[in-house]
Amino acid sequence: MSHTNIVWHNHQVSNAERAKIKNQKPCILWFTGLSGSGKSTIANALELKLFEIGKHTYLLDGDNIRHGLNKDLAFNDHDRIENIRRIGEVSKLFVDAGLIVITAFISPFCSDRQIVHDLVAEGEFIEVFVDTPIDICEQRDPKGLYTKARNGDIPFFTGISSPYEAPQEPQIHLLTEELGIEGCVSTIIDYLQSKGYLHA
Ligand code: ADX
Repeated sequence: MSHTNIVWHNHQVSNAERAKIKNQKPCILWFTGLSGSGKSTIANALELKLFEIGKHTYLLDGDNIRHGLNKDLAFNDHDRIENIRRIGEVSKLFVDAGLIVITAFISPFCSDRQIVHDLVAEGEFIEVFVDTPIDICEQRDPKGLYTKARNGDIPFFTGISSPYEAPQEPQIHLLTEELGIEGCVSTIIDYLQSKGYLHA
């Protein structure tokens, strides 16, 4: 692919100005965890909380993005890597727009999460490990997918027939069973508050 005739165009309004008018420091809250771990539930509750305190957010969610932007992708390693690469690039644009971006994807591979980390500036990538043991996820099985995967009806199912690499040093580690949804949300809000993300 040639980029010879494409020139980067600088914007008249800077990313710092877009953030300042929103009175916040943009970042990506990158949730990672197994299917059924609670990523979407916690992400939604967090977005509501941030909205209530006047923060500007956007939530990107695995199941929804796979109905649109990434509907051409499956769950083999190659497609999962491309899934995360595209989400990383979209998240970067939203950070540039001044938003607090929340992403809820299994994102099972450390190297892919590292690539997104490296796309944005220092402090703009916050890894949130939604840590729910697989037996609990399997008991919950909200979409009936673990049952199907155990029966061999879903290939490459994370945690069963495809690996999940837990983060080694996440900025936020949520032991969901201990904290509950409200506890998870307040842990994240406290982190954002203490690190100065909630003011320009
Ligand atoms: S990721 O691995 O590429 O990050 P993503 O978060 O987009 O996954 O999508 C995961 C969702 O797709 C799961 O919550 C589940 O509902 C559904 N899904 C369908 N097939 C699979 C599979 N083989 N492995 C994991 N999740 C699957």
